[in-house]
Amino acid sequence: MANTHMQLQEILFSQGFGTRRVCAGLVQQGFVELAGVPYTDPAIEMVAKELCFTVQGVAWEYHEKAYLMLHKPAGYECSQKPSTYPSIYTLLPAPIRQRGGGAAAGVQAVGRLDQDTTGLLLLSDDGKFIHRMSSPKHHVPKVYEVTAKHPVDGQQVGKLLAGVVLDDDPRPVRAAACVQTGERQFSLTLTEGKYHQVKRMVAAVGNRVEDIGGLHRSRIGALDLPADLPPGGWRWLTASDLASIAGEAAKK
Ligand code: URA
Repeated sequence: MANTHMQLQEILFSQGFGTRRVCAGLVQQGFVELAGVPYTDPAIEMVAKELCFTVQGVAWEYHEKAYLMLHKPAGYECSQKPSTYPSIYTLLPAPIRQRGGGAAAGVQAVGRLDQDTTGLLLLSDDGKFIHRMSSPKHHVPKVYEVTAKHPVDGQQVGKLLAGVVLDDDPRPVRAAACVQTGERQFSLTLTEGKYHQVKRMVAAVGNRVEDIGGLHRSRIGALDLPADLPPGGWRWLTASDLASIAGEAAKK
């Protein structure tokens, strides 16, 4: 697939620029340029892989599958149909939200962060990748920077490492790592993704995650949230980003 030829209108359609008819129209109207040259034949064939083009002056690169990272800001829900706050999907350009067309169009978040949690969120339209990254079987470690309401002590850290029982499962859940970084701050590594897991584990040891700015995800696998990606910002994952998240999950 990767090196086969595709019609220009099909390339645009696969990348989320609208129906086939709309994509053909964009080309016919001269809105699509390659290396600064407008192409007006929608049926012209070209190699899609690594193709760079502009649509109405905006630069795009062809991606057979979409793998992205988003710096989730506070006050956004990880849902396509949010109940109270705006959806994280509104932070992405329309073509990324519409890729593929149909009912299951666009990228989906790999797991969810709470409305008030900030930090690294991955999104993709590759169902296998989403499954591998979110499946508890694969134990992909996720690092959370926690600010607690009350001072943290060695006993609390010890309990988080030893395991705590949450109300929906008699089996204890334990942190893979827990390092105190301040009087009320610690860094917690989890390999599962239960509902409100960090908040419930912190409550189970007699403390509480601070309401505002209390929870931030800084790392997934070996992939850190880049310091230069501002809240609300997103970017494509590179091949080396993908390799650093999880060996098998990186295979395209
Ligand atoms: N644990 C939580 O409690 N909330 C999140 O958003 C992520 C992990």
